[in-house]
Amino acid sequence: MDGNGRWARERGLPRTKGHYEGLTTAKNIVRAASDAGIQYVTLYVFSTENWKRTADEVGFIMGLVKQFLRNEMDFYRENKIRVRYTGDQAGLSPEIWKEVDDVMQATKDFPGLQVVLALNYGGRDEICRAMRQICRDRASPVPTTGGGTPPVITIDDISAAMDNPDIPDPDLIIRTAGEFRTSNFLLWEAAYAEYYISDKFWPDFNPEDFSQALHWYQHRDRRFGAIGAAA
Ligand code: IPE
Ligand code: MG
Repeated sequence: MDGNGRWARERGLPRTKGHYEGLTTAKNIVRAASDAGIQYVTLYVFSTENWKRTADEVGFIMGLVKQFLRNEMDFYRENKIRVRYTGDQAGLSPEIWKEVDDVMQATKDFPGLQVVLALNYGGRDEICRAMRQICRDRASPVPTTGGGTPPVITIDDISAAMDNPDIPDPDLIIRTAGEFRTSNFLLWEAAYAEYYISDKFWPDFNPEDFSQALHWYQHRDRRFGAIGAAA
């Protein structure tokens, strides 16, 4: 969800106003995804690198996150939306984590769209935490003598140690504001994702743009490294 700051600057407004507008966009796109029957949406809300911003801006964004969580319970209930989390919760203030956790608990049985909030999220950080988890799980001595094979770490092992192993890899990643870079988003999971870049700033991105992205996605020839149907 990129371009909030530029959207505001273009209008001579403070960056915070861009984030505020971005929240409305997030809600509209979540609704559009839910209406389209999509099962999972991950919103890249705040990265492990976004702490480099001013305390004011960080505080404002965290306040908006609270608003998105606390004030939208009716919206989640009506649309059967389940809210989930990815990221390093240890780096969040206990107050924010409580908000996230409360909404996750309150929505955990809703069968509709699952909205994953990537908050204090970094792709490298997630991989790093997964590796530490694997090391901890294997800290007890594994017999390697007497014909036993040394323990190996497989791709499936790493996938299983990621934050939400039950959620499938993303099919489509939409980035706004015209930037062609991953910015540390879902590095492990995005191995075969299709990237769609919109030139629009996030506050301007609307359900019609979202629908165009889905349409574009539907015409991708996904080969996953194999030979495509066209060949
Ligand atoms: C995205 O908008 C929101 C967050 C990263 C929280 P930006 O704040 O990155 O907007 P630009 O890139 O400065 O325009
Ligand atoms: Mg940006």
